[in-house]
Amino acid sequence: MELITPRLHLREFSVDDLPAFREMDGRLEMHTYEREVPAEAESVKVLDGFIKHQLDVPRTCYELAVTLRPRGNARGIIKLSRQWEAIREWEVGWAVHPELWGHGYAREAAWHIINWAFQELKVHRIVAFCHADNAASVRVMEKLEMHQDGRLRETRWLGGKWCDEYVFSILENEWRVKTQELDPPG
Ligand SMILES: CC(C)(COP(=O)(O)OP(=O)(O)OC[C@H]1O[C@@H](n2cnc3c(N)ncnc32)[C@H](O)[C@@H]1OP(=O)(O)O)[C@@H](O)C(=O)NCCC(=O)NCCS
Repeated sequence: MELITPRLHLREFSVDDLPAFREMDGRLEMHTYEREVPAEAESVKVLDGFIKHQLDVPRTCYELAVTLRPRGNARGIIKLSRQWEAIREWEVGWAVHPELWGHGYAREAAWHIINWAFQELKVHRIVAFCHADNAASVRVMEKLEMHQDGRLRETRWLGGKWCDEYVFSILENEWRVKTQELDPPG
């Protein structure tokens, strides 16, 4: 699966991405609100998992490399995974290399994969979760015009303490209206 957006190429990961993937994955800023910085062997395992998911039938998890057009190294990850089959609910997640923060790349990648999910996978509802202190991620959800469904209390254990997280969502009918009103980002 691949998507071309105005500034980005979202494509499948391959083993050749390991150096660029590890360079990103080994950075503290990539994990501040999620977990400890992974050891190199763990990054190898994560990338291997991404590649294995490409063979799943039916496919229920897409982890795509975010690259700058026309072609380039992986500079981010956009993830789309099935949460709850019965209600056609999928989850979207994102990470961008810290050197590229603030250029709207997370929003652009997310906008296009959400649009693809509604059009091609016929999903009903897309959700996104983030640590309650992750202001940049909250802002991405707001810029996608997702609805804040709630604040989940103490659902994460991080840095030796319990942390809250937000859950945001967008529904297929809401997306249809928004895509008629708004220009895609890029
Ligand atoms: C969250 C993340 C993907 C955002 O990537 P990005 O490409 O910088 O995102 P965008 O440029 O599309 O939007 C970021 C928005 O957050 C805002 N922002 C950034 N840091 C902020 C902060 N500390 N407080 C408030 N807003 C902040 C930016 O100003 C921007 O909003 P704007 O366009 O209105 O100015 C990036 O910070 C990241 O990879 N973080 C580490 C991984 C992670 O936490 N992923 C999310 C897991 S839920």
